[in-house]
Amino acid sequence: MALRVCVTGAAGQIAYSLLYSVAKGDVFGKDQPIILTLLDIAPMMEVLKGVVMELQDCALPILQEVIATADEREAFTDIDVAMLVGAMPRREGMERKDLLKANAKIFQSQGKSLDQYAKKTVKVVVVGNPANTNALIAMKCAPSIPKENFSCLTRLDQNRAKSQIAGKCSVPTSAVKNVTIWGNHSSTQFPDAMHAVVVKDGKDLKATEAVNDDAWLKGDFITTVQKRGAAVIAARKLSSAMSAAKAICDHVRDWVQGTPDGEWVSMGVISDGNSYGVPEGLIYSFPVKLSGGKWTIVDGLSIDAFAREKMDLTAKELAEERDAAFEFIGN
Ligand code: NAI
Repeated sequence: MALRVCVTGAAGQIAYSLLYSVAKGDVFGKDQPIILTLLDIAPMMEVLKGVVMELQDCALPILQEVIATADEREAFTDIDVAMLVGAMPRREGMERKDLLKANAKIFQSQGKSLDQYAKKTVKVVVVGNPANTNALIAMKCAPSIPKENFSCLTRLDQNRAKSQIAGKCSVPTSAVKNVTIWGNHSSTQFPDAMHAVVVKDGKDLKATEAVNDDAWLKGDFITTVQKRGAAVIAARKLSSAMSAAKAICDHVRDWVQGTPDGEWVSMGVISDGNSYGVPEGLIYSFPVKLSGGKWTIVDGLSIDAFAREKMDLTAKELAEERDAAFEFIGN
């Protein structure tokens, strides 16, 4: 049976990298047929036509069908996976609250459509910013779908953190495990390497020992990851797209296929019932293990005063974002 996978913002720059990876089997496997439904806004339909032509011209064996549309009903009907990439970009002179408002409306509408048309088992990853709050809105507007099926992307932040540590220790990125991103996908996020492991000369070392530079781990490492998106924009004059697409693939692949024993990844998920004292009712990035298509927050990691302060700060920002967004959509 083919999986129905929806990508929104399908005419945009992240989707341009993402669609190729998904359609060639990087996420669901090389033998799993897929049907892609591509959603964008009406003025982008001509551009989207070109993307569809290119997908056809890739002659990918597992891609059964591509449906391009500006209609949420057509895009979301019976889907198994939703990659919600499309969002209103921040334009010059736009206040943060204007951006929040525009996106709250988009994700309210898409949440309602998911509720009505998608499979109840649909797995949703929100990428469009502000990703955590948009995911929360979509989740609230889709009460017939389990809360656990909604997530937001913080895997790009995790990959950035992993790469920084690998560089510092002169090891390949595959040797760095269990870096955690806590909180919001914003500059208040807390990239945390205190529980991470670095495999060096065949031995598992604590990242703190392998790095052996506490000031860096508590300083430049954190700020580099927090500001990496802005650094890419400054250099490329466009926001991260290739790396964002790769991170979306990593996120959904692990959700569907599971994490290896002893390893965790970071995902924005509902904070209800967490054991880290993060307020309930937020989509907050936690360390999670994935198995059988379900996530579980990794419990029992020690949190020192330094970490506590950073985790609380990003939770506070998320609570403020949530309150502002729900005011706009009248909830
Ligand atoms: P882009 O501007 O190139 O593409 C966005 C696309 O979304 C456009 O084609 C636009 O027409 C479409 N769109 C707008 N409203 C829509 C709606 N209501 N329904 C369907 N499509 C709609 O932007 P790009 O670079 O592809 O980034 C997309 C989003 O991802 C942005 O919000 C960006 O901030 C966010 N992002 C998030 C990251 C994360 O780690 N969570 C990382 C990088 C980007």
